[in-house]
Amino acid sequence: MATKKPEIITDKNQMRNWSRAMRSLGKTIGLVPTMGYLHEGHLSLVKQSHRYANLTVVSIYVNPGQFSPSEDLSSYPSDFDGDIRKLMSLSKGVDVVFHPANLYDYKTYKNSNDINDCKRSESGNTGSGVVSCLEEKGIGHETWVRVERLEKGLCGKSRPVFFRGVATIVSKLFNVVEPDFAFFGKKDYQQFRVIQQMVRDLDFGIEVIGSEIVRDEDGLALSSRNVHLSPEEREKALSISKSLFRAKCSAEKGQINCKELRGLVIQAINDTGGRIDYAEIVDQESLEAVEEIKSPVVFCVAAWFGNVRLIDNMEISIHN
Ligand code: PAF
Repeated sequence: MATKKPEIITDKNQMRNWSRAMRSLGKTIGLVPTMGYLHEGHLSLVKQSHRYANLTVVSIYVNPGQFSPSEDLSSYPSDFDGDIRKLMSLSKGVDVVFHPANLYDYKTYKNSNDINDCKRSESGNTGSGVVSCLEEKGIGHETWVRVERLEKGLCGKSRPVFFRGVATIVSKLFNVVEPDFAFFGKKDYQQFRVIQQMVRDLDFGIEVIGSEIVRDEDGLALSSRNVHLSPEEREKALSISKSLFRAKCSAEKGQINCKELRGLVIQAINDTGGRIDYAEIVDQESLEAVEEIKSPVVFCVAAWFGNVRLIDNMEISIHN
């Protein structure tokens, strides 16, 4: 049975006012940040929010700042009405969908004329009038949040602006929605760790919860980008999850040499014609590569099938 339609809020001040009003009633708020084109993975985050918080906000915002010019921003899939229907299909729905038109202006920068114009038109002396006047003029932002070490390896090597874009926009979502809890899928393991670290370093009063990867029955990790795979590419892409499961099994049986385990996964993906971006076994906390599995690690893989870049990972802990 469908639940009621969520309230759709596009204005960030209205969003913040809603959250503050709810918090003043003693309600806790869970935020599920997304870029839309929702799948079961996102819905599992919403269900997790139901377990933690009284109210749930899902944000749908395709963030241009996390795509470099050569990446797939223009072809990133979207289906807003379908997303709302999926959220309403849950036995407990969501309270608000925050769907801002734009959260960050990248290309325009303020100059002193604009600032002076805005200063002249400001009525009070708090400075906030200047800020909103600059925003109305569509004048650019220039503050970035960077998690300097964690953003560098793995996906950061081939996507140098990705984590800066993610950390900045997630900070903004946190400041606008002011949630108590925020939910991230562990398929994007590095993203999850970057956000955890950012929350710790910048003292956001938010608990970041990582959610297990949701897979199709055949093992493929769910991703909005899977829609771009041809049936043949999709079949070949199963080599990622299959080989990761095999590597985990070998590690649990005593193969703790990471070179051997990486070799197994790289070969399986190469054999199907996939192009490896990286296949690394890293410490779960530091994301530094390890040579032998002695503490909890995560085996992270990124590979191309046709024009689609997929990521997946497997957490491995050896119990002696
Ligand atoms: O994982 C995503 O969909 C995005 O990176 C996020 C966290 C919504 C930030 O734009």
